[in-house]
Amino acid sequence: MQKLVIEGGVPLEGEITLHGAKNSTLPILAGALLCDGRTVLENCPRLTDVFAACRILTHLGCRCRIAEHTVTLQMQNLRTDTIPEALMQEMRSSIIFLGAVLGRTGSCHVSYPGGCELGPRPIDMHLEALRQMGARFLIHDGQLDCSAPEGLHGAVIHLPFPSVGATENIMLAAVLAKGRTVLHNAAKEPEICDLAAFLRSCGADISGDGAGTMVISGVKQLRGCSYSIMPDRIAGITYLGAAAITGGTVCLRGTDASPMDNMLPVLEQMGCRIYPEPDRLHLLAPRRLRPVASIRTMPHPGFPTDAQAIFMAILSLADGVSVLEENIFACRYRHVDALVKMGAKIHVSGRTAVVTGVRSLSGACVTATDLRGGAAMVLAGLAASGTTEVRRICYIDRGYEAIEQVLRGVGGRIVRMETGGSGEL
Ligand code: EPZ
Repeated sequence: MQKLVIEGGVPLEGEITLHGAKNSTLPILAGALLCDGRTVLENCPRLTDVFAACRILTHLGCRCRIAEHTVTLQMQNLRTDTIPEALMQEMRSSIIFLGAVLGRTGSCHVSYPGGCELGPRPIDMHLEALRQMGARFLIHDGQLDCSAPEGLHGAVIHLPFPSVGATENIMLAAVLAKGRTVLHNAAKEPEICDLAAFLRSCGADISGDGAGTMVISGVKQLRGCSYSIMPDRIAGITYLGAAAITGGTVCLRGTDASPMDNMLPVLEQMGCRIYPEPDRLHLLAPRRLRPVASIRTMPHPGFPTDAQAIFMAILSLADGVSVLEENIFACRYRHVDALVKMGAKIHVSGRTAVVTGVRSLSGACVTATDLRGGAAMVLAGLAASGTTEVRRICYIDRGYEAIEQVLRGVGGRIVRMETGGSGEL
């Protein structure tokens, strides 16, 4: 096990190049299964979840080569329609392969996904939609056996909630299905549009992505293509947040403001000055951050749940009271105890967290509880006086590529060590 050791109190200053979006890369990798021939994905982040997805693809019979930030996939025929439990358990979002394997072969056998650190992660909406497209399911002994004897066919589907994963699974199942699928109340996240753009590049007939109602007409075949993954907006706001919380100034390269345009105004409300340019973004933090009366996480274009922990850490040093409301996941406040241990004043009641800003935080030994909660602890450590240790950073490595190198590159005093180890910062 590894940990990050951080010496806080240094305002970050410098330039960060943003990696590709984890939450685009994973469904696009699944989409590559549907394409014949070669697919070349550029700007792929080097993350443990991406490596896990490539292991699943290899198991299914897709040749994968990862070179730096380029993943090359060669797809002939699927070797199997079964993904073993060990591979399914390696990452939470492996259910995204269900739609692709079902769409390609007409059958799929996977282990039923468990909950995760964010609480129960049901897939009822995924299954109901695929059932409407002709799939049949047998759930037994923690296994999910799926089949579509006559192949999948188009359907008119109404999602009760704009689930990102369910939208992606429906897209992946519909692009080769017989006929037309109309998907109402589809998720509108930028990563959904990135997946749709990739599939169109491969020959899919998709429209309405990002608008709430999508229309997908099944085609006979998809061909591999070259595609560059969009920048990671949550990693981007995390690094801008690191500058905000340390009173620094950071330039983010490899993105414009658009993927983060539902989060940047909140940083501006806090007193940060933001200067967008065509392919980069500058942030200048104020001497003292202002509080934000209300942040409510909602489906896109609302404030993203993935940024909630990040903003809670930043607001813990604001000059006043902020109120956050988590409306997407049941257990997404598990980072609060660690921030309180570092001196933050946070009171949670149900879905609401009241953050009363303090003048300073103190370094402590904390343990990451999930991907974004762990990142929030790193940000708090960068601002705190003294030394912070963040353990169980395997969570953080799922979504941030070499986070300690990125932060050291802008002056952060942070090193990665073995948990039992010691060493100089
Ligand atoms: C995706 O998860 C992201 N993961 C999450 O990012 C993100 O937080 C989430 O979307 C919301 O934006 C990936 O893209 C790999 P949902 P997903 O289906 O698809 C409930 C991160 O930090 N629900 O939109 O699992 C569900 O329980 C990760 O990068 C059902 O009830 O999210 C949750 O409460 C964390 N039934 C809500 O909907 C279903 O069938 C949103 O889930 C499906 C979902």
